[in-house]
Amino acid sequence: MTGTAPLLSMRRLSWSVGGMSIVDDVSLDVAAGEFVGVIGPNGAGKTSLFNLLTGLCKPVAGRIMLAGRDITGLAPHRRARLGLGRSFQASAIFASMTVHANVQLALQAAAGGLRSLRRTSDDRILHVLSDVGLSMLATRPAGLLSHGDKRKLEIAMLLAAAPAVLLLDEPLAGVATADIDSLTEVIAGLAAGDSARAVLMVEHDLDVLLGLSTRVAVMHQGALLADGSTAEVMADPAVQRAYLGAAT
Ligand SMILES: Nc1ncnc2c1ncn2[C@@H]1O[C@H](COP(=O)(O)OP(=O)(O)OP(=O)(O)O)[C@@H](O)[C@H]1O
Ligand SMILES: [Mg+2]
Repeated sequence: MTGTAPLLSMRRLSWSVGGMSIVDDVSLDVAAGEFVGVIGPNGAGKTSLFNLLTGLCKPVAGRIMLAGRDITGLAPHRRARLGLGRSFQASAIFASMTVHANVQLALQAAAGGLRSLRRTSDDRILHVLSDVGLSMLATRPAGLLSHGDKRKLEIAMLLAAAPAVLLLDEPLAGVATADIDSLTEVIAGLAAGDSARAVLMVEHDLDVLLGLSTRVAVMHQGALLADGSTAEVMADPAVQRAYLGAAT
């Protein structure tokens, strides 16, 4: 593996169902420390692209490399082990268990199951909870958390696996306005500083997403329409025509 290889690399990825092209020849490199905002109109193929990355769907063409390793044919759990984390729905949380116990379970799962039960470090749990700002709520049953705090717990559970790449598909959806700011702050921390991690996030609220992103990728009808700095992408006439025009 070379130190200069992108953390995540998509090469000419395509996916189609029943002859209908849904992801069309997408190539994109993501480096450690990058926060890539993925935007595009409804049905543009954003979630489908994430499904290809996590292995939920198999591409009809193209390759996916993670830290220089070809993961195109790997099962989802093997990709997760190699460092690809994806946000789940809040139902992945055990409502009757405490916040702490949920993170403990996630840590154990990431470490390979019950064998490591006793070795699960409480320090790790506290660290992850502190990363998402839930330290004060550690003993609360997870079911009693607000939607925003449930999302933070979900993120904490993802962090338990120490992912190199995090895929967040509309993590702010369904979260009350009052909770958006603090959740956004947690998300902003995920690839901050000299982080070795990269984040790809889909979000329809452009103000929020552009505030978080170091780079923006625009999808339109399955294809990557544009990719670059926020300023570049937003000034691109093709983007304005295809996306901004369609969205407003
Ligand atoms: N399993 C599937 N079978 C058939 N069509 C599918 C399947 N999954 C997605 N599609 C279609 O592919 C297109 C892209 O869907 P996708 O969910 O990836 O879009 P999206 O960009 O995530 O949209 P949104 O912003 O609404 O979440 C849509 O037309 C959708 O109906
Ligand atoms: Mg989607």
